Amino acid sequence: MAGRGALLIAAGSLWGIIGCSNPSEEQSKEYYRRIGDSITTLTQQALLKNVVQAVADSGFAFAIRYCNVHAIPLTSEQAGKGNVVSIQRLTDRNRNPNNKITAAEDHRVFEYFRAGGTDTLLFRDEEVVYYKPIKIFMPTCLKCHGSASDLAEGVAAVLNEKYPQDLARNYTMGELRGMWKVVMKKQG
Ligand code: HEC
Repeated sequence: MAGRGALLIAAGSLWGIIGCSNPSEEQSKEYYRRIGDSITTLTQQALLKNVVQAVADSGFAFAIRYCNVHAIPLTSEQAGKGNVVSIQRLTDRNRNPNNKITAAEDHRVFEYFRAGGTDTLLFRDEEVVYYKPIKIFMPTCLKCHGSASDLAEGVAAVLNEKYPQDLARNYTMGELRGMWKVVMKKQG
């Protein structure tokens, strides 16, 4: 019996050394990834639903004014659910200055996405940060983020008025547009 116990302990410490195959670590990664993925998917759906509604009501130019007021509140109000501390959309070519990537760590993750990386987690002492790329995934995005000829009628004028420093034009289909950043409190 004693021999068997020693073998189990040895096997246990081997898991520790191998590290990457530690089952509980893999489980917790899966746990945070699932929360990050679902909250960003829900928020994306909420944003899209509201933009589509604003366009249907009064057209793309009006929808710009709508996004100007509601996009960040609609996004950040998703925080506070469960262990989610904050949720943001960040980018290198920002429309709203509050969405500009500034932290070195965020820059590194964005470069990783630019190189084709998929969603990823960053572990800190008290928090776990989830990142996911945002791409131009439907032609409608180009009505407000495309080239001068892609933009819907009246959009350029409202953009110039509301976002004089706008960098978020001239995108093409499939291009990396930005990323989600979700900060979560570490559980137990
Ligand atoms: C009706 C015009 C409109 C459409 C359609 C639209 N956007 Fe935007 N988008 C905006 C405006 C306006 C902002 C700035 C919102 C703000 O001030 O918070 C913005 C901001 C963003 C941001 C945040 C980063 C930044 O530059 O401030 C991302 C990411 C983004 N849009 C992606 C998309 C994607 C992807 C699509 C297609 C699914 C899309 N947008 C469709 C108008 C639009």
